[in-house]
Order: sequence, then C-alpha cells, then structure tokens
Amino acid sequence: MPGILEGKRLLVTGIITDASLAFHAAKLAQEQGATVILTGFGRMSLVERIAKRLPEPAPVLELDVTNEEQLASLADRVREHVDGLDGVLHSVGFAPQTCLGAPFLDAPSADVSVAVDVSAFSFKSLAVATLPLLSRGASIVGMDFDARVAWPAYNWMGVAKAALESVNRYLARDLGPQGIRVNLVSAGPMKTMAAKSIPGFADLEDGWNDRAPLGWDSSDPIPVAKTVCAVLSDWLPSTTGSMIMVDGGVHALGI
Ligand SMILES: NC(=O)c1ccc[n+]([C@@H]2O[C@H](COP(=O)([O-])OP(=O)(O)OC[C@H]3O[C@@H](n4cnc5c(N)ncnc54)[C@H](O)[C@@H]3O)[C@@H](O)[C@H]2O)c1
Repeated sequence: MPGILEGKRLLVTGIITDASLAFHAAKLAQEQGATVILTGFGRMSLVERIAKRLPEPAPVLELDVTNEEQLASLADRVREHVDGLDGVLHSVGFAPQTCLGAPFLDAPSADVSVAVDVSAFSFKSLAVATLPLLSRGASIVGMDFDARVAWPAYNWMGVAKAALESVNRYLARDLGPQGIRVNLVSAGPMKTMAAKSIPGFADLEDGWNDRAPLGWDSSDPIPVAKTVCAVLSDWLPSTTGSMIMVDGGVHALGI
C-alpha cells in the first residue's frame, strides 16, 4: 500500500538529536514515501550525523530562522535538491533561561523578545522563505504546546507559544487563498533536548499520563510524528488555522 506522503517533497527544520520531534516526523515521513530535506541550526556536523540515522539520506541545509540572509537564500538552496515543496515543518523553539522556570515576574524584555522572535515570528519567516516553492495543496505545520492556559515553569515560552498560535491564524488567513494550509500540532510533554532545558519540566510532565483519558507516554514520539505526517498529507484538505491536539486528551478536561 502506498504511504500517505508518497511523492511529497518536505522541508523539515528542528533536528538536533534523535529525540527531536522533527527527527521522528522526518523518519516516519520517509517511511510514508516522502522525500525529505532537512535544515539544521548551529551545530551542523551534529545534525548531519543525526540525519544519517534516518532510513534514507537527506540533505541538510543551514538555517537559523532569525538570519535574514539564510532565509533569503533558502528557496534557491532547496531547489538544488527538489523543484518545489509540498510541505514544511517548523519544529523550532528557544527561550533564554530567564524565561523558563525562573520567576515569571523577573524576565527582562530583551530575553522575552528573543523567545518570541525565535519561537513565533520565525513561523512567518519560514513561511515567507518557502512560499516561492509552495503551490496549491501545500501544508505548513508548526509545533505548539497549548498556550491557552498557564502552566508550571513554562512562563514566557508559554507567551511565545500564544504568539505562535496567533501567527498560525494570520498565516492561515493570508495563505488560504493560495490553497496553502497552515496548522499547529499541539503536543503533550515529550522528553527532548528542548524539554530538558525547562527547569520545571517534571512538574509539567508529572501526572500527565494519569490525567490523559487515553494515557500519555512522554518517551513515545510516534503519536506526535503520526499526527505531523497526517497534517502534512492530503488527508486534512480543509483544515487550516487549527491547533491539532496530541496530548492524550488532557486539553479536554477541567480537573
Ligand atoms: N518536547 C516537548 O515537550 C514539546 C511539546 C510541545 C511542543 N514542542 C515543540 O516542538 C518543537 C521541537 O522541540 P523538541 O521538543 O523536538 O526539542 P529539540 O530541542 O529537539 O528541538 C528544538 C529545535 O529548535 C532548533 N532551534 C533553536 N533555535 C533555532 C534557530 N534560531 N533557528 C533554527 N532552529 C533553531 C534547535 O536547533 C532544535 O533543533 C518546539 O517548537 C517545541 O516547543 C515540544
């Protein structure tokens, strides 16, 4: 049976370890028939080493989502490998330590700006940078942690995710007329490098499995990867501006 991403050309950002959500999305996408191009940030030789663990070789392009030159040349660099893109995964987030775990009331505005710039504004930047490669039916996906409520420790990263949720809606509004879908996959807590950098991550993760109607395993990346692949596929053709929840059902409960 052909995979749900057969023939799709995808750009995947955000791999830094083989625990990265993007790594598992890229792996499953290849297994489902996609051609994958990766981007890496900073530690390029590390990203290239991790990329070798994918089922198929995938080129790795350098991309700091806040670097205007790298964004401006991205489409041409992607064209050296594929003649267009059917999907883009934004799996990027960063906040300085003052924004995560430290007292919420103390974070300086300059640090908050960095968190919002890297984690939210960049969703727009990546969409604009790849737009020349996208055509009707393409799907842009970002990674979210439900920012409609306040969480322990998540603090200004939560504010940055709230901005990302809003950017998602405006991108959906503006790219919809070109037939391009824009959505977020909102995942429950997963044990990745980004998660380890949150000092109170255990407070977020603790009890998630007990609360989730379907249960939740923060070491199992497959449910999130499957959902990302589904949103990148043709199987949600009229869904845009949405947050697709992959959290075992925790978002649906009060207590
Ligand atoms: N782990 C979780 O619990 C969880 C839950 C929900 C959503 N998310 C989101 O999933 C996404 C991926 O995170 P992850 O958990 O896989 O962690 P990760 O640390 O594996 O991935 C984060 C990625 O962001 C990249 N990055 C940081 N600054 C960048 C920049 N300026 N330019 C380009 N890339 C940059 C890093 O290189 C890294 O690859 C993030 O948006 C994160 O907020 C994570």
